[in-house]
Amino acid sequence: MNIIIRDTYQEMSRYAAGLVASMIRQKPDCVLGLATGSTPIATYRELVRMHKEEGLDFSQVKTFNLDEYLGVGMDLGKPYEMDQSYARFLYEELFRHTNIRKENIFLLDGLAKDPDEFCKVYEEEIKKSGGIDLQLLGIGCDGHWAFNEPGSSLASRTRVEALTKQTLDDNYESFYKKAGIPREQMPHFAITMGVGAILEARNILMMANGRKKAVVVAKAIEGPVTSLITASAIQLFRGGITVVLDREAASELKYTEHYLHREKLKNEFFFQ
Ligand code: GLP
Repeated sequence: MNIIIRDTYQEMSRYAAGLVASMIRQKPDCVLGLATGSTPIATYRELVRMHKEEGLDFSQVKTFNLDEYLGVGMDLGKPYEMDQSYARFLYEELFRHTNIRKENIFLLDGLAKDPDEFCKVYEEEIKKSGGIDLQLLGIGCDGHWAFNEPGSSLASRTRVEALTKQTLDDNYESFYKKAGIPREQMPHFAITMGVGAILEARNILMMANGRKKAVVVAKAIEGPVTSLITASAIQLFRGGITVVLDREAASELKYTEHYLHREKLKNEFFFQ
């Protein structure tokens, strides 16, 4: 596991964007798994800058969204409608600013008529695309990956999941409140790639910033593997792992000195 610690959120985001860009340059038709949340915002903005100023080319890149609220969604082919979907977030933060092709964007459809069937088809699409080369991940305050809430099987597949009160509170603050949407109108269910499905990617890039993530980051990376902290499944991952943290998010780790030392010895991007 490569654990990269940078002083600030901006610095860690630049590192993370560099890693994604490196994947795109090495494999122009790579498949990216994309995370939503406040954590990756600066990473996406840096990727947009690289596209505009350095010609980073998304024309052959395919993307799969990691998670989505049930009951919201967007059709990229239809006119703009306001909603709080994760699809909308990625459209606003990344897709619309790059040359990614619409047909290469795969979204979890929060408005699917039969969500269970949709989840199976989505996983089939990932397989048809050759699997995910680089999966971006954040971590929830309760240790979740995507919307795999505590108690989710570490072998779980893409499915509908009920959200915990903590996740609802956290995400209300970050997204819904800003848009003036009442708490009661927030969806209580989501579609999420399962932990088992995430573990099938070739490489993982997990990011976290801020003091409020410090304890859960330490539990996920250095604590026991447990379905109560679904991000701890990172310890079972067989592919290339890079965890990018700012100082605050790294502040509860026990082996920081070792991670910094290791980075000096092995200062290069690592993909499988
Ligand atoms: C949400 C998302 C996760 C994300 C997490 C952290 O619950 N489903 O995919 O990693 O929140 O979000 P943030 O980056 O805003 O802290």
